[in-house]
Amino acid sequence: MDFLDKLVLPQSLEHIALLHYMATIVLFLFVPFLSLVLGGSIISFYFKRKGLREPNDHFILFSKQVIEYTTFTKGAGVTLGVVPLVALILIYAQILHNLKLLTVSLFVVALILIIVGLIFIYTYRYSWVFKSFLSSVKFDERENEFTTFANNVARVNRKSGYWGIIFLLLGSYFFIGGINLALNPSDWDATGILYLLTSFSVFVKWLHFFTAALSLTGAFLLFIFFFWEGGKEIADQKYKAFIKKTGLAITLFFALFQPLLLLINLIALPSIALSSSVFGFVVISLFAVFWVFHLLYAMLKNSELRYSGMVFLLLVVASLTLIISEQASFRNVTKTQALVLSAEYAVTLKELKGEPMGITAISGADIFNGRCSACHKFDQKLVGPPYKETLSKYNGDVDKLAAFVLNPTKINPAYPPMPNQGLKPAEAKAIAKYILEEVKKYK
Ligand code: HEC
Repeated sequence: MDFLDKLVLPQSLEHIALLHYMATIVLFLFVPFLSLVLGGSIISFYFKRKGLREPNDHFILFSKQVIEYTTFTKGAGVTLGVVPLVALILIYAQILHNLKLLTVSLFVVALILIIVGLIFIYTYRYSWVFKSFLSSVKFDERENEFTTFANNVARVNRKSGYWGIIFLLLGSYFFIGGINLALNPSDWDATGILYLLTSFSVFVKWLHFFTAALSLTGAFLLFIFFFWEGGKEIADQKYKAFIKKTGLAITLFFALFQPLLLLINLIALPSIALSSSVFGFVVISLFAVFWVFHLLYAMLKNSELRYSGMVFLLLVVASLTLIISEQASFRNVTKTQALVLSAEYAVTLKELKGEPMGITAISGADIFNGRCSACHKFDQKLVGPPYKETLSKYNGDVDKLAAFVLNPTKINPAYPPMPNQGLKPAEAKAIAKYILEEVKKYK
C-alpha cells in the first residue's frame, strides 16, 4: 500500500496518541458488529439446514429471526462495518508510516472481503422475507412461473448464506492477521499471504475472535429474545424453551474457550508489547468472563431468564477491555516509531514554515547536538543504535557515511528506519567527519 503511505504525513506525538484513541473507538464499533453478523449468519445458516432436513418448524423460524436481529438494518453494514474499517486503515497507515509492514495491505484485503461478505449476508437476510412470503402462497405445482421463481429465491437464499459466511470468515482472518502482525515487530519483514498461512499466533488470535464472536452472539440472542424491551412475545412455550436452551448452549460452549485462548494470546505477545495496563485490562476481561460463567450456571439451574441482559453486557465489557488492552500493546510496540515520526514531523514543520534548520556554522559538533543526539549516543542505544557499533563498517570513509546520512536506508530490522534529517551535502560531510573522529574515543 505504498500509495497510502505517500499520502500520510508524519505526526506529532500528541496526534499519534489521539490516533490510538480513535483506533480504539473505531474497533469498539467494528469488532462487536462483525462478531454479531458472523455469529448470526453461522447460527442462522446452521438452523436453516437443520430445518430443511428435520420436520421442525422451530428451526426455520429461529434461523429467520436470528439473521434478522443480528444484522440490524442494511445501513448498519455500512456505518458499523465498512466505515470503521476504512477509518482504521487510515489510522494504521499513519501510525505505521514508512515501516513497510503488511498490516495496512491485509486490512485493505479484509475490507474487500468483508464488503462482499456483507452484500451476500444482507441478500441472504432479505431473500428470507421473499422465501417465507412465497411459501405462504399456495399455488399449482405444475409448470408455474411462481414455482420457478420460488425455487430461484430458495437458491439465492442458500447460496448467499453460504458465500457470505465464507467471505466473512476470510475477511476476519485477514483483519486479525493485520492486527497481530502490527503487534509483532519480529515479523515485520514478512511478506505476502505466507505470513497468514504459517503464523500460529494469527491462528490462535483468530480462534479467540471466532469463539468470542459466537459466544457474544448467543448472549445477544438471549438478550434480544428475553430482555430487551421486556423480551419478545412468544406464545409458543415450546419454541420459547427451544430458544432458551439453544441460546444458553451457544453462549456457554464458546465462552468456555475464552480464558485459555486469552492467556495463550497474552503469552504470545513480545515483551516490548507488555505493560501494566495491558495486564490490567486482560484481568478485567477475564473477570467478566468468569462472572458470565457464574450467571449462566444460575440460568441453567433455576431456569432464570432475567440475567440475559447482564450476561450480554458482561461479554461486551470483556470484548471492549480486550480491545483496549490490544491497543495498549500496539502503543507500546510502536513507541520508538512514534518518536521517529514526531522527529520527522518537527523537520517537516520547519520546512513548511521556511525556517532555517537551526544550523548556522557547519560544525559537526553543533549538528550532532542539534540534529542527531535526540536519537543517538556513541556508546548507548537510544532510538537509533550506538555509533560505537555501527560506524566501524564505514572504515573511516567520510563520503560513504555522508551518503547514508543524506539518504538513510533501512539497515537493521531491530530498529525503525532512520528518518531523513534534511541536511545539505556539506553538512552531512561535516557530521560524518565529526562522528568518525569522536567514535575513536569509545574504543
Ligand atoms: C529520529 C531519530 C534519529 C535521528 C534524529 C537520527 N538518527 Fe541515525 N538512526 C536512527 C535509527 C532508528 C537508525 C537505525 C536505522 C536502521 O538500522 O535501519 C539510525 C542509524 C544511524 C546510523 C547507522 C547506519 C548503519 O550503517 O548502520 C548512523 C551512522 C546514523 N544513524 C547517523 C545519524 C546522524 C549523523 C544523525 C544526525 C544528522 C542521525 N543519525 C539522526 C534514528 C535517528
